[in-house]
Amino acid sequence: MKPKMCIAVATGLLVAVSGTTNAAGSADDGKIKAAQCATCHGADGKGGGPNPPIVALDAAKFVAAMNDYKSGKRKHPIMEMLSKKLTDQDLADLAAYYAILK
Ligand code: HEC
Repeated sequence: MKPKMCIAVATGLLVAVSGTTNAAGSADDGKIKAAQCATCHGADGKGGGPNPPIVALDAAKFVAAMNDYKSGKRKHPIMEMLSKKLTDQDLADLAAYYAILK
């Protein structure tokens, strides 16, 4: 567990330094982090009811949407609250996961 966390931190730093957020995403890590999203968007990401599908969303669009909630540019109480807890690395991982989910 510890070495993996170090790698995650190191990758996060690299991402911060290079200024890109969607290059280094890990779909495996994204899958774990997506558990908190499945309640509304479904385990398959296809959504339902008021919850839009987020499956197969382009990674750049995914990250842009999440950052818009984070900054408050796009308004939705729950998405704003959730996105604020996610780091750039979390977003990159989630984007990588949902981009390949079918
Ligand atoms: C309580 C229910 C709920 C949870 C939990 C939730 N979402 Fe959402 N999400 C929504 C709703 C409702 C919208 C549409 C809001 C709007 O109108 O902008 C949305 C919108 C989005 C969008 C924008 C989709 C688009 O087409 O622009 C993304 C991306 C997204 N959610 C990702 C996530 C991720 C990633 C998580 C987990 C960290 C998550 N959501 C957790 C309810 C939820």
